[in-house]
Amino acid sequence: MERIKIGVVGGLGHIGLIQAACLAALGYDTIAHDKDEAKIKKIAEGKMPFVEPGLEDLVTKAMHGGRLRFTNQMGHLQEADIVYICVGTPTLPTGAADCSQVQFAVEEIARNRSTHAIVAIKSTVPVGTARRLTLRLRERNLSDKVTIVSNPEFLREGAGVDDFWKPARIVVGSEPADPQPAGTRVFGSRPTATAGEAAAKVAGIYSPPGVPVIITSWENAELIKYASNAFLATKISFINEIAHLSEKAGGDIRVVSKGVGLDPRIGPGFLEAGAGFSGPCLEKDLKSLIHQFNEAELEPLLLRSTLLVNLRQRKNLIQKLEDRLGLLYGKQIGVLGMAFKPETDDVRDSHSLPIVNCLLSMGARITVHDPWINGPEQAGLSETELSGVIWASSPYEAADGKDAVLILTAWPEYREIALQKMKARMSKPVVVDGRNLFDPQEMQALGIDYQGVGI
Ligand code: UGA
Repeated sequence: MERIKIGVVGGLGHIGLIQAACLAALGYDTIAHDKDEAKIKKIAEGKMPFVEPGLEDLVTKAMHGGRLRFTNQMGHLQEADIVYICVGTPTLPTGAADCSQVQFAVEEIARNRSTHAIVAIKSTVPVGTARRLTLRLRERNLSDKVTIVSNPEFLREGAGVDDFWKPARIVVGSEPADPQPAGTRVFGSRPTATAGEAAAKVAGIYSPPGVPVIITSWENAELIKYASNAFLATKISFINEIAHLSEKAGGDIRVVSKGVGLDPRIGPGFLEAGAGFSGPCLEKDLKSLIHQFNEAELEPLLLRSTLLVNLRQRKNLIQKLEDRLGLLYGKQIGVLGMAFKPETDDVRDSHSLPIVNCLLSMGARITVHDPWINGPEQAGLSETELSGVIWASSPYEAADGKDAVLILTAWPEYREIALQKMKARMSKPVVVDGRNLFDPQEMQALGIDYQGVGI
């Protein structure tokens, strides 16, 4: 069997490290590049850059087994047959995705090689990016060094290792063979011979039996990723919209979601009403997709609404606090959950940040708690971010002497809170729950003024 060597750029990020560790666990000789020297030093000492269930064990075993190495030198990727690009594509002020790190990585790889490599783009990039980057390589006479394929990832933070082993599908996009008339884009055609070979090689790297493999054009692959994340976001906003009427009508959105999700055409996933979606992916990708529509002079009516409904969820939680406490100036509020979702310590683009900032700007005094984050440094926040906020070491400490508790992340341990004990420590028994963790009747029986979303 041919021994394929793997390179990963962005190898200490959430996607890159999972990719590198899992491929090394499969037996591939893997070298992961990251520009952050401090993180490389730390991982050599056994310190992980972030928490992800099951990852530390994989990384440690692969490093000890000599199958996983880390470097900050692009030149060290020279040996790799396939290089995965897993760098970030953050949102620019216009909403567009900033692809400069992807472009830089692709060109650096091409410049540093004496032999040919396949570059597989895992980063989420706007439709047309693989084509644009290939043209740039051609203009610079570097295209014989690199064949670009698009290989979007669908991992969820907090479940990334599991998602890697059990993918729902594998998508690989490559250059279509058909001539592309100037100024037009032809989707979904046969790949060129080289591109087809590259796509098959990437698809074959890890392709468990029974998992559908879609080999298609660059553009289709890029669109599949955006459409998937936008659809998930739309499902969440949809149920959040219905939650408003449910709340007014005295319904229970949890029962409504269950009834809706049991239809196999709809499915139960991503129908949990609450504070809405946040984190480094869904919102960023939605904004980028809206920007791509604008660039194409198309009107993204549904996508815009998905985003607006999501922002309204955050405002509504603050409104619910005001409805109970009146002016929030000087009020003491305990916020439970800083990570954008459970099972991660990631606060990047977490809804908790704008919500806490808004409460601070209204003059409220805030104490926060998160089971996996003990303070601003661990959250990667600068000194000026959330200044004045107190970090508590338990949900009870966060509730101590408070006028209200606001729940923002669905951590399983919050469901286990001893409610009587928490109530006894609060100055007013008000709980606004952005994750619908509790039963309103039970809360009422305990004498807690409880308000969820859509219940
Ligand atoms: C998302 C996608 O689910 C992954 O498939 C994709 O690979 C990833 O983005 C990416 O592009 O890298 P992720 O952002 O890690 O994954 O997390 P999700 O599980 O999708 O949750 C996103 C947000 O939606 C969280 O704030 C979560 O609390 C919220 N959510 C989720 C709801 O409010 N309701 C739901 O029913 C489900």
